[in-house]
Amino acid sequence: SFIDQFLDLKQLELRLSQKLGITNCLVVAGDSDLQPEVIAEMGKLVTNTLKTLLPHGLNIIAAMGGTTMAQIASCLTPEIGKERELLFVPARGGLGERIDIQANNVCARMALCTGGKSRSLYVPEQVSESTYRPLLKEPAVQEVVTLIKKSNAVIHSIGTAKHMADRRAMPKEIVSLLDRGHAVGEAFGYFFDEAGQVVYKIPRIGIQLEDLASMKCVVAVAGGHSKAKAIVAYMKHAPKQTCLITDEGAAKAILKE
Ligand code: BG6
Repeated sequence: SFIDQFLDLKQLELRLSQKLGITNCLVVAGDSDLQPEVIAEMGKLVTNTLKTLLPHGLNIIAAMGGTTMAQIASCLTPEIGKERELLFVPARGGLGERIDIQANNVCARMALCTGGKSRSLYVPEQVSESTYRPLLKEPAVQEVVTLIKKSNAVIHSIGTAKHMADRRAMPKEIVSLLDRGHAVGEAFGYFFDEAGQVVYKIPRIGIQLEDLASMKCVVAVAGGHSKAKAIVAYMKHAPKQTCLITDEGAAKAILKE
């Protein structure tokens, strides 16, 4: 029955937060690997969570890119913007994503859906570090970097290491480094092995892992059984206050790990 299913999910949430060592996990029914519509259910929970966690007044929210974030963005609603001024900024610059799932795009959509504002970080995605460095000195870039530093909330996803390396067409040397290091998960451009050790970090400006500790509102959204190992790996590193929004597919696979 509906009640049984609800209680099952509550039970999963409790066991999951114990296993992952974070304060809050929210689980929706289904498996987004098999049922894409499950992402919209996670999206509703993201809206609820932001409504609960964000203080009234100005909020600077840093968002990451990826296919999950791109879909979550469209699920946010103007309710979040009630009695709040929302400014969305990309959490980290230029990780090498397709344009439609880049953080700049995610932020623009989040602003549109909530009635907030957004700023873009204009640093190209596919450039070497030597080209990238001088661009960071540009005042227009610095201005957004300052806003990112002031952000009080972050919304991000977690990816599987293999998928992220392929999608971003990373250089051969890095791919073999990830292989040798047994990287399984990725978040914020950091790759983790099963023990949660950082195997590689894409050198880019913006939010660094250590910045997360002092943030009140950290929302991670990742679902699908295929992401179980990636989620476990990143959570070894995640700040305790992280609220993980996931699905039954991922939750059950994680509890079997
Ligand atoms: C990337 C983010 O854009 O998307 C990563 O930079 C994240 O931090 C990844 O792990 C997840 O992608 P997806 O497509 O699986 O949601």
